[in-house]
Amino acid sequence: MNFTSTASIIALGAVLGLSACSGEQNTQAPSAVNEKADGAGAEANTPTWPVSEAIDAFTHANYNDVRVTNVDLDLDVLFDEKVLDGTAEIDFERLNADAVTLVLDANDLTIASVDALVNGDWAPTDYTMGPDDASVGSRFEIKLPDGADKVRVAYRTSPEAEGLQWLSPAQTAGKTHPFLFSQNQPFFARTMAPLQDTPAVRMTYSATLRTPPELLALMSARQDEEGVRDGDYTFDMAQPIPSYLLAIVVGDIEFKAINDHIGVYAERDILTAAAEEFEDTPAMEQANAALYGPYRWARYDMMVLPPSFPFGGMENPRLSFLTPTLIAGDKSLTNVVAHELAHSWSGNLVTNATWRDAWLNEGFTSYVENRVMEALYGEERAVMERSLDLASLKRDMADAERPELTALKMPADLGHPDDAFSQVSYAGGMFFLKLLEERFGRDTFDAFVREYFNHFAFQSITTEDFLTYFEKNLWAMNPDAVTKSEIDAWVYEPGLPDTVENPHSDAFENVSAQQAAWLAGGAVESIESAGWTTHEWLHFLNTLPAEMTLDQFTTLDAQYSLSQSQNAETAFAWFMKAIAADYGPAFEPLDAFLMRVGRGKFIYRLYQTLVDNDRRDWATGVYSRARPGYHPIAQRRIDAIFAG
Ligand code: BES
Ligand code: ZN
Repeated sequence: MNFTSTASIIALGAVLGLSACSGEQNTQAPSAVNEKADGAGAEANTPTWPVSEAIDAFTHANYNDVRVTNVDLDLDVLFDEKVLDGTAEIDFERLNADAVTLVLDANDLTIASVDALVNGDWAPTDYTMGPDDASVGSRFEIKLPDGADKVRVAYRTSPEAEGLQWLSPAQTAGKTHPFLFSQNQPFFARTMAPLQDTPAVRMTYSATLRTPPELLALMSARQDEEGVRDGDYTFDMAQPIPSYLLAIVVGDIEFKAINDHIGVYAERDILTAAAEEFEDTPAMEQANAALYGPYRWARYDMMVLPPSFPFGGMENPRLSFLTPTLIAGDKSLTNVVAHELAHSWSGNLVTNATWRDAWLNEGFTSYVENRVMEALYGEERAVMERSLDLASLKRDMADAERPELTALKMPADLGHPDDAFSQVSYAGGMFFLKLLEERFGRDTFDAFVREYFNHFAFQSITTEDFLTYFEKNLWAMNPDAVTKSEIDAWVYEPGLPDTVENPHSDAFENVSAQQAAWLAGGAVESIESAGWTTHEWLHFLNTLPAEMTLDQFTTLDAQYSLSQSQNAETAFAWFMKAIAADYGPAFEPLDAFLMRVGRGKFIYRLYQTLVDNDRRDWATGVYSRARPGYHPIAQRRIDAIFAG
């Protein structure tokens, strides 16, 4: 590229920058601005990266004409019927003065009535509910009478809502009370409320929830009357967030403070263990803020859910959701906390405008997570984590059903947002940013990232918005640090670029040497594993060769009780090898694991590997017992594994 002719690009950046701070409370995604900027700059030089519009293929919403700005929910939480029942009052802004309808997303919602507010009076207004698409739900179109500035929808959710899991008392640790939690990323908020369910739209929200009085309700928002348990709860989130960050949890939940603005919620039996496991969270927040600017969401609490939660963690603002499988007793899995906390900058503050740009959320967050882990626990742990990530990135790339998807920016024909969340977005994005850090120097790069978060705070942006900002604010200062083709190889081209870091860990090298000596016939007792961390064990297990004998499995298991491992990551790594080798004694503990744990990262690959290794019947038997306890998201994914 030619830096002498970038003045117009910089001018374009200035347009973006200007409009970004020119008001409207940041509710407008830059995409809408880009369209204008694009037109205005038509006679100027072609930008280095095309300015892309934020076109989200997974929403029905007409958000470029009429944009939702605030939602106020008023809901009864009805455990007997497994429904939320009440109203959503929606504020919006008309971007196109000629627009006569507001189009929302709805999935499995039953509408009782729709009213519009005109001159202070509510009156019924017409609406249509389009056909129900299994994936994206229905197009919910509401007629806007002249002068209407609010609509109110009375509705109820379905017991089958994909974003909500209703647990019976038997499925909780306490066994006495039911439990409810939401998982709205990537596009399940529309199963909970009628919304413009796209990450391109940001809104504030408030809510009133009525629950059985003995239960506590929490949301990804500020709570009124903190700690008062009376079945009547109000919340508000004054910072504009994308719909996928709307979250709710209701159950017999207790709280333990870690400091004045960080704490843990969980069922009573794991509360103390959880608070101990996550006691370094304040240090993580400090490290993160020291690198990238202050934490902007006031409180940071963690909600440790029952084991059916289908993810390791979910970055709901002010209230990360976490799987209980992180409680290993030795803080070995707390990088997930660093990850969810890091989303408070990358993802929640600066958000991918479409799921094609998911690496802006997950790759950035994986990068920040790793920097925070390094700041707290040292270089060696951070390198080990990157090394494990690189191995899984290579594995995901080798296994990819669509190898052409293996680039950071997902293609326009992305079939389902889930496809954007492989290790490519996570580790691929992290290693891309690691390359930039290395080429521009850590201090310079850190300052750039801090400014990037600041510049785009509370906005939803595309990959090209990032690249254009990068070009102007980092690359232009040091044009020789990296070439355009090196960048494009990461962002747009499939395959792992040869500029990827090769994380070198002395500890892993030692583990490999021990492993090799044992495989060459050494005694199992001579493996010097005393003091190995979980990471070293994971490296040892993941790199075991496929052609190990059953004898070798038996010996390892006898020595280290791997089939009984209480660390979910270690157990998973062991089970994966054991299934492939058909090592019989692992199957009973594997059955128990699959019955107990609903975390997708583990169970999807375990079921897939069972099916791939002629254990379909056995797996079907376990699944028929385990399925009722799994989250609807996990059920859909595993049903698909068995179907084909
Ligand atoms: N935002 C994700 C979880 C997610 C991704 C939900 C895609 C729905 C669709 C969360 O921040 C995450 O990445 N969780 C990881 C942990 C992380 C350390 C890799 C997980 O759940 O394993
Ligand atoms: Zn994440």
